[in-house]
Amino acid sequence: MEFLPPEIDEYARLHTEPEPELLQQLNRETHAKVLYPRMLSGHLQGRFLSMVSKMIRPRYVLEIGTYTGYSALCLAEGLQPDGKLITIDINEELESMCRRYFSQSPYHQQIELRIGDAKVIIPQLNYSFDLVFIDADKENYLYYYELLLPKLPSGAFILADNVLWSGKVLDEQHKDKETQNLREFNTHILNDTRVEKLLLPVRDGVMLMRVK
Ligand SMILES: C[S@@+](CC[C@H](N)C(=O)[O-])C[C@H]1O[C@@H](n2cnc3c(N)ncnc32)[C@H](O)[C@@H]1O
Repeated sequence: MEFLPPEIDEYARLHTEPEPELLQQLNRETHAKVLYPRMLSGHLQGRFLSMVSKMIRPRYVLEIGTYTGYSALCLAEGLQPDGKLITIDINEELESMCRRYFSQSPYHQQIELRIGDAKVIIPQLNYSFDLVFIDADKENYLYYYELLLPKLPSGAFILADNVLWSGKVLDEQHKDKETQNLREFNTHILNDTRVEKLLLPVRDGVMLMRVK
C-alpha cells in the first residue's frame, strides 16, 4: 500500500530517476508470471534503495528476502568494486528467474544468491555488513535484527521494509501475528539506544536505522 495520494505518488515517480531497462523487464515479468507481485519493491522504492546504497558505498550488503531479485539489483548499484551482496530467499521456485536477471546485470559477479531459511543461513555468514535490508518473514523481523545487530560495525545501516503494514500497525484492532510482530518491532527500535532511527512513509513504510 502507498500512503501518499496516487497523484502525489505518481508525481514523485515522474520526478525520480527512470527505472533502468533490466528492472522494467523484471518488474513486468514478475507481474505477468509470479504470485504476489506487490512484494516487489518497484520503481520509486527501488530508486530509493539504489540511492541509499550509492550514498553508503557498502563493501558488504545483506538482503533477507530476494523474491525475484528486484531490490537486490537496486542495492548492488552502490557496491564498491570489490564488494559483494548476499541475498537470501527460502523459495527455490524463484531461483532460476533471479539468476537469469542477475546474469544480465553488470553486478552479476558481485551478487550471491543463497536459497534457504534466513534463520539458518545468517549465523553461517562471516562478513562485516555495511548495509542490511530486511524484507522477508515479517513475524521474525526482531529475530533477524537481534541476530545481526551485535555483528554490525558502528556506522552500518539497516533498512526494514513494510513497517507500516498497510497502516495496520496503528490500529490495535488488528491482532494477527504479522501486525503484532511488526508493531513490537517498531516499538523495540524506537526504544533501542544502540541505533538511530528514521521511519520513512515510503511505499509501505521503510525503517532506516544507523548503528551507533
Ligand atoms: C517481500 S518479498 C521480498 C521482495 C524483494 N526484496 C523486492 O523488494 O523485490 C519476501 C520474500 O521473503 C522470502 N522469505 C520468507 N520467509 C523467508 C525465510 N525464512 N528465509 C528467507 N526468505 C524468506 C519469500 O520467499 C519472499 O520471496
